[in-house]
Amino acid sequence: MTQRLAHRTALVTGSTSGIGRGVAEAMAAEGAHVLLTGRSVERGEAAVAAIVEAGGSAEFIAADMTSDAAIANLIARVRERTGGRLDILVNNAAYLTATPPAFAEVTGHQLDEVLAVSVKAPLLLSAAFVPEMAANGHGVVINMGSVNGLTGVTGSAVYSTSKAAVHGLTRALATEFAASGVRVTTIAPGPTETEFVATLGDRLNAIRSVIPSGRLNTPAQIGAAAVFLASDDAINITGVTLAIDGGLTGH
Ligand SMILES: NC(=O)c1ccc[n+]([C@@H]2O[C@H](COP(=O)([O-])OP(=O)(O)OC[C@H]3O[C@@H](n4cnc5c(N)ncnc54)[C@H](OP(=O)(O)O)[C@@H]3O)[C@@H](O)[C@H]2O)c1
Repeated sequence: MTQRLAHRTALVTGSTSGIGRGVAEAMAAEGAHVLLTGRSVERGEAAVAAIVEAGGSAEFIAADMTSDAAIANLIARVRERTGGRLDILVNNAAYLTATPPAFAEVTGHQLDEVLAVSVKAPLLLSAAFVPEMAANGHGVVINMGSVNGLTGVTGSAVYSTSKAAVHGLTRALATEFAASGVRVTTIAPGPTETEFVATLGDRLNAIRSVIPSGRLNTPAQIGAAAVFLASDDAINITGVTLAIDGGLTGH
């Protein structure tokens, strides 16, 4: 195994399961020290144990990112561990539900819940760590978007809105900080084999049938792409959205 991320510290939000865990494992396998976050201490500690068992370096910080105070607390705890030298930020955590409210029935409270985790947290974490990265002369931010942020999907107005906002955050920060050595990109996965997607039951076959390749992603495949984007192999790649979707969107 190469060590493309040796001597780097990565924060991966929402890494107690699914894609975030896949990204954390892939980055640790390439030599990064990985800070995992999420609400579930049990799943977070299990993810760290698996990384350490495989020879990697990781620690878990429990954090529910639904309030400004909790996000500020997470930022403080990351700073304690990194001393102002976070190299890689992966904004992966998002508010996910298999039963979103009908568009016309969504309440302001429901919208606030989604936007807090899926938009506000990536923006506030970036605001905290990107200036530090710029001062250090290097850094990478990877925002986890979605094909739903690129194309229209029925029944997905709130989620699609949150993901399009994340895609916009990438483009704005990439432009503003390119000259400072900070690269910002979006990964836009199509349907990916996670615990959440497994809850979709019969709807999964319908989803698979519209993917030109007929394949769902695995979290490890998203992790491999994140390692590439975080590594110096991608030194001149910034502002882009990498769709990993079996041809679904054509991006
Ligand atoms: N799976 C797909 O098909 C797919 C497709 C396109 C994009 N994505 C994107 O990929 C990312 C990961 O999705 P996934 O499918 O891997 O979902 P997942 O397995 O449900 O993982 C979501 C992660 O976010 C964390 N999280 C959720 N709410 C949180 C909160 N309030 N505070 C802190 N952490 C929270 C969860 O941790 P705890 O439960 O421990 O809090 C978990 O680690 C999301 O941004 C999603 O939009 C997924």
